[in-house]
Amino acid sequence: MNKAYLEARALVEEGLKRVFTESDNAYEKLFNEVMNYSLLSGGKRLRPVLMVKTTEILGGPMDSALKIALAIEMIHTYSLIHDDLPAMDDDELRRGRPTAHRQYSEALAILSGDGLLNKAYEIMVEAILTARNPSDTALCVATIAHAAGEKGMIGGQVVDILSQGSPLEEEMLDYLITNKTARLIMAPVLGAGILSGLDLEKLKDLERVAFLMGYSFQLRDDLLDLTGDQAVTGKASNRDEVLGKNTYPSHYGLEKTRGDIDGFLEEATTILRNMDEYDWSFMIELIQELRKREK
Ligand code: IPE
Ligand code: IPE
Ligand code: MG
Ligand code: MG
Ligand code: MG
Repeated sequence: MNKAYLEARALVEEGLKRVFTESDNAYEKLFNEVMNYSLLSGGKRLRPVLMVKTTEILGGPMDSALKIALAIEMIHTYSLIHDDLPAMDDDELRRGRPTAHRQYSEALAILSGDGLLNKAYEIMVEAILTARNPSDTALCVATIAHAAGEKGMIGGQVVDILSQGSPLEEEMLDYLITNKTARLIMAPVLGAGILSGLDLEKLKDLERVAFLMGYSFQLRDDLLDLTGDQAVTGKASNRDEVLGKNTYPSHYGLEKTRGDIDGFLEEATTILRNMDEYDWSFMIELIQELRKREK
């Protein structure tokens, strides 16, 4: 990843380290450790970096953006902990380490996901209460909550799980990919646009860009499941086929998946180049890096 990305990621990392520190008793201490095990395990931090950098590019309020960015990463991390549970994808490796339920127990893994999710909302409410512009901030938080919920990430996960072993119609496969993954990548970009007071037309352009990035992100994840190196991805390969998952490559094949990722990301880049009152060079470079990412 490029230098600007690494700088933003370091800022996020610092913030995340400060979330679960205090504890009054041995149980709290242990549970903080369980939550930190998953939260501070070296994810790419794509979603919070998008929130911070998009806000910076648009000249929005960085203090609110950083708080909300941390909350989004906490929501994302909870979604991974639960995604890996035996009742869902039954995975043993995540971010190069044993999954939370393997390291501790199923019960503690479930509770740590719940804990991360709740803390995320606490932080976002605090961001609203301390914002210079509380109504924009509340709208930003509502956008993130919606993207994480039953019409967003959770809704996508429901289809992902219930459709295992039976091929979906194209429209429903599209719903699955859009909701389980693209929504939580669109949310920080849109959220940053809202925080920065962007007008509706530009928000729509930005929404399309983020959708194309988020959708392609899942397609690349599905390719890496098939052809990636688990020492690099930090998670077991070939799980989707074993579980009978509906994925873009399982439906359309590898070649079309690769071609479509390129097409989607080219469209995203063109839209950004046309929004030329802002400097999107960071985003354009990021898109190139995501296109060929190996982890
Ligand atoms: C993995 O997300 C789950 C998907 C939505 C594909 P990431 O690839 O962003 O995982 P981390 O946070 O870097 O571990
Ligand atoms: C997960 O999709 C999307 C989430 C909402 C967590 P996957 O099940 O493909 O993600 P990985 O491959 O386990 O990271
Ligand atoms: Mg899954
Ligand atoms: Mg999974
Ligand atoms: Mg996957």
